[in-house]
Amino acid sequence: MAGHHQNGSRLETVIDVTNPATFTGGLQFSELTYTVTKKEKVDGVWVSQEVDLLNRITGYAPKGRVTAVMGPSGAGKSTFLDGLAGRIASGSLKGKVALDGEEMSPSLIKRVSAYVMQDDRLFPMLTVYETLMFAADFRLGSIPLAEKKERVEKLIEQLGLTWSRNTYIGDEGTRGVSGGERRRVSIGVDIIHGPALLFLDEPTSGLDSTSAHSVIEIVHDIARNGSTVILTIHQPSHRIQMLLDHLVILARGQLMFMGAPPDVGSHLSRMGRKVPKGENAVEHLLDVIQEYDQSEFGVRVLADFCITGLKPPRISGDDQHSISTVAGAPKEGEWSAGGSSSGLHRGLNEFDHSIRSPWASARSPWSGSQNGSLIMDALRLTPSRHRRPLHPPK
Ligand SMILES: Nc1ncnc2c1ncn2[C@@H]1O[C@H](COP(=O)(O)OP(=O)(O)OP(=O)(O)O)[C@@H](O)[C@H]1O
Ligand SMILES: [Mg+2]
Repeated sequence: MAGHHQNGSRLETVIDVTNPATFTGGLQFSELTYTVTKKEKVDGVWVSQEVDLLNRITGYAPKGRVTAVMGPSGAGKSTFLDGLAGRIASGSLKGKVALDGEEMSPSLIKRVSAYVMQDDRLFPMLTVYETLMFAADFRLGSIPLAEKKERVEKLIEQLGLTWSRNTYIGDEGTRGVSGGERRRVSIGVDIIHGPALLFLDEPTSGLDSTSAHSVIEIVHDIARNGSTVILTIHQPSHRIQMLLDHLVILARGQLMFMGAPPDVGSHLSRMGRKVPKGENAVEHLLDVIQEYDQSEFGVRVLADFCITGLKPPRISGDDQHSISTVAGAPKEGEWSAGGSSSGLHRGLNEFDHSIRSPWASARSPWSGSQNGSLIMDALRLTPSRHRRPLHPPK
């Protein structure tokens, strides 16, 4: 991308939220908007107010990849996941969702997908093996018992549950499997039929870092075997971040960033908020989002930046964020260390009329090879072969 200079200022780049030229399948969503009516007491009087829990979210989640939805608490991550997964009553959710280029109704999405909930419901009196056999009965229907058993055995092995296969799930009253094992069992219940689309809401919450990592490794393998995996996650560790291929970052129901993790740094640079040396780019973006949220501008200006390339106004007193010694720092004029008394630096010069294509990058998940261990292979199930399961959805 060539940086343009006009009147001495460098123009910024527009994030291209459309599909990459090499779109090879997955979930596409366009203009997803979900509005609810909230009642609030203002000066002792109840007033109804329309609020967008999701505001015109457009993008995609590539097939064979793990897409992570991130953002502060209350950003709309679970709402977004529910919207994609067809779990918001049709009519109240506006916009389109398409799988592999085909527009999908909520009921169709539900049929071809699996959804691992934040707080899963499992029967406490069943063992790990019994739970998975029960799921196999329910989801695989009339295949021979021997085949069901074989699938369950392989799944137990792949999920690292061999040691606890005969342990009860348990609950508050009865000690059972550990939190990490429990999470892996619920993923097993949901992937036994090889779903083309897998949604997971906070699959790592409440887990220690080793268990969290192993859970994400499992879903990474599922993705590499041809599924589209979309999950929400809070503060992933560095190791986990390495397993995430594509990010959708939300705040207050608006899109703050979409693209490959290595592109977060350049997004921030273009915004004038270069990542300080040694700091994690994603964490830095989340900090910047919070700063804007608490400022007079709000996060809307960051959403606008994604769509139009209009550089967000500078927040008074953010100068320390402009100082960096990172190699490849922006050129003179891209951002300046000088503070603004008004806190507002905005003008035509801050538009970028070029289009960035993160997918052209060699680091892009689109150019990566598809390997990884083979849960689906081991199950002799590939999502593409089982695009439309014959069995009832959950
Ligand atoms: N039916 C509703 N009516 C009004 N507000 C709602 C409704 N459902 C959700 N919200 C609000 O929408 C916002 C987004 O909720 P959501 O559960 O999607 O957040 P989240 O990003 O998943 O947060 P967390 O990280 O805490 O799980 C929250 O502020 C929530 O209170
Ligand atoms: Mg949530």
